[in-house]
Amino acid sequence: MKYNPYYLFTLLALFSLQSCDEGDILDEVYISDTEYYTVKFAGHITGCDSWSDGYDVVLAAYNEESDYSVIQKQITNVSIKDGYVTLVLPNIPTDAKTIEFGIANRLRRRIATFESIAIDPAEMSTSDTIYFELQTPMNVGQFSTIQREVFDGANYNCSMCHGSNNGRANLDLSKENSYLNLVNVASSRIEGGIRVLPGNAIGSVLHDVLADGNPTGLRYDHSNILNDIHKRLIDDWIDHGAAE
Ligand code: HEC
Repeated sequence: MKYNPYYLFTLLALFSLQSCDEGDILDEVYISDTEYYTVKFAGHITGCDSWSDGYDVVLAAYNEESDYSVIQKQITNVSIKDGYVTLVLPNIPTDAKTIEFGIANRLRRRIATFESIAIDPAEMSTSDTIYFELQTPMNVGQFSTIQREVFDGANYNCSMCHGSNNGRANLDLSKENSYLNLVNVASSRIEGGIRVLPGNAIGSVLHDVLADGNPTGLRYDHSNILNDIHKRLIDDWIDHGAAE
């Protein structure tokens, strides 16, 4: 066959198309200095797959001023083997104050922190690797995160009023019972309402109860309890199918 430069051109074009489409960018690198920390993370986790679009399970570094990470690495199925994750996060700028294992949204904003270690420049040298190991296996799934951050969360404490003994409105939001009390369960207050209708946040009583302006008209107004990030987290979980 005679040499034809057109083949070479086509090959090059195909190659460049392929290399452009690598999917999500996993590393976000911001180097403020020539010095930086490296963290090695390890632990047993489950539930990574349960998250709806727009959220990532991450190892991330934050400074004090912002809820947006200065650098983060997403934990994907590639980093997990038999439920055990190992991950290295290099290039952490020296102004970072904490390394956190948790959830971030697409904009790298902190949504939840499962475990955190503080960086103390007096104690740590940039040439050392910092080890961050989970002591116990952890369920990092979307519903478990809602349980931890919202229902049992220190800021909200829903289970204070909706506990197993004293569940107001006959709603028990304690860890063992919350799922079975919510998903596909009829409201005790709104006629014809379902507390959580999988795939339909707007049609769920839980959404309305927490929404601005107290549209359900409950005597106890819940509309100012949650911040927007957590309202959104609940809606996204419901719209994604409300998996346990
Ligand atoms: C200070 C107590 C208190 C706290 C805290 C509280 N609730 Fe309630 N909740 C109530 C009461 C009382 C009712 C019933 C109101 C009524 O009948 O008008 C209720 C009703 C509800 C209902 C309606 C149940 C149904 O069957 O339709 C939902 C859903 C709910 N709460 C969710 C939550 C969530 C989620 C949180 C935390 C973000 C929370 N509540 C925090 C007291 C509380």
